[in-house]
Amino acid sequence: MKQVESIIMNMSADLNPRPVSASFVEMDEIVQPSDLNIHGSIFGGYLMSLMDKAGGISAFKHCGVNVVTVSVDQLVFKNPAPAGTVLSVKASVNRAFHTSMEVGILVTGLKPGEPKETTLCSAYITYVAIGADGRPVPVPPSLPETPEQIRRFCEAEVRRSVRLALAERLAGGSEARQC
Ligand SMILES: CC(C)(COP(=O)(O)OP(=O)(O)OC[C@H]1O[C@@H](n2cnc3c(N)ncnc32)[C@H](O)[C@@H]1OP(=O)(O)O)[C@@H](O)C(=O)NCCC(=O)NCCS
Repeated sequence: MKQVESIIMNMSADLNPRPVSASFVEMDEIVQPSDLNIHGSIFGGYLMSLMDKAGGISAFKHCGVNVVTVSVDQLVFKNPAPAGTVLSVKASVNRAFHTSMEVGILVTGLKPGEPKETTLCSAYITYVAIGADGRPVPVPPSLPETPEQIRRFCEAEVRRSVRLALAERLAGGSEARQC
């Protein structure tokens, strides 16, 4: 926890840290017949749109300015869901960086006739705060408070470094040329 505190204190002198709990979002939806794919279960694109909406609201609650989606990582569809399933889309900021924020999103579903919720989908979506000119603006640091939030905070840095290293490695096209 001491290490997390010192990272946060070094991040920004003029933006006060915001607790992760302040960015928590939970949206409920019911799966309608019009939301299904040809297999009779929820259409992935519809689920992704709900996740992006919840994630964007979470990022907005953290920074208080407009945000745009810049990347989606580790989107995993774990289970299908039929019509009538009640979806719960949960999102919160795992970590704020300089102008970007990684939001973790989990979708669970209570299927008709089943006693317990099932995990349906999860993803990490990165949002960038933008000013009136459409350019990135700094966001407040995020303050993880529970052991789970601290774990996500630390893992978010690992994902970010992998994400940015991969983007840089592929940017010039030299890797593809050597293939
Ligand atoms: C998001 C956008 C403003 C970033 O512009 P940019 O010129 O790359 O800006 P920067 O290089 O200053 O990067 C801004 C932040 O985005 C992050 N970023 C840029 N590309 C990224 C990527 N591929 N994955 C993750 N983060 C990325 C940077 O790391 C930086 O974060 P940091 O300040 O916390 O370190 C621009 O790419 C954009 O407008 N994209 C379109 C967004 C959109 O239309 N989304 C869909 C609808 S909401």
